[in-house]
Amino acid sequence: MRLRTLVVFASGNGSNFQAIAETIAREGWPIRIAALFTDRPRARCVRRAQFLGIPVHAFSGRTHPDRETLFRAMAEHLDRLEPLDLLVLAGFMKILPPWFVRRWEGKIVNIHPSLLPAYPGLHAIRRAWENREPFTGVTVHLVDEGVDTGPVLAQARVEIREGEPLHALEERVHQVEHHLYPRVIAQLLGILARDPLSPSVTSP
Ligand code: GRF
Repeated sequence: MRLRTLVVFASGNGSNFQAIAETIAREGWPIRIAALFTDRPRARCVRRAQFLGIPVHAFSGRTHPDRETLFRAMAEHLDRLEPLDLLVLAGFMKILPPWFVRRWEGKIVNIHPSLLPAYPGLHAIRRAWENREPFTGVTVHLVDEGVDTGPVLAQARVEIREGEPLHALEERVHQVEHHLYPRVIAQLLGILARDPLSPSVTSP
């Protein structure tokens, strides 16, 4: 099977990035993570990449003072890594400019900790918890020019338990993310078959 190549974009903790890398290795999928791209050179995701032996390309606000310069630099680096099959956003905190989305149209995926279209944007888990929703969840979607608006590829529901502290809910949502995201990526790359009756991978 042809080796697929992806690049992961992250800004923070990087637990999804690590889950993707470790699932690929464990399952023996023919996928190579060519690089981690980050806008936060001191973020934990960078240390995870070093631990995993994955090259890091950091584009900080210091060296690239405005968003346009930063994304131009990212695009130049991506061009050098081509051919790329997928750009995987995993806790990447900058909104992609429209020209960037169009350039890799249909090849950019994102994960969001809610059942979109509910709770787009920041602090999605906390807002659902504060509103005492009976459930929330996780969405993997293609990235379009909006914020958390692209076509949904998969969703998994997570119950919010009575009296559950926020940190416990966050922990469970992240566990579902770590299971779901690598599998949707493998489906998109044609490595895992999609269930013909369901477009989604569901939670464990
Ligand atoms: C995840 O909850 C993801 O859904 C959201 O940002 C968070 C990133 O977490 N887009 P991590 O950096 O992968 O630990």
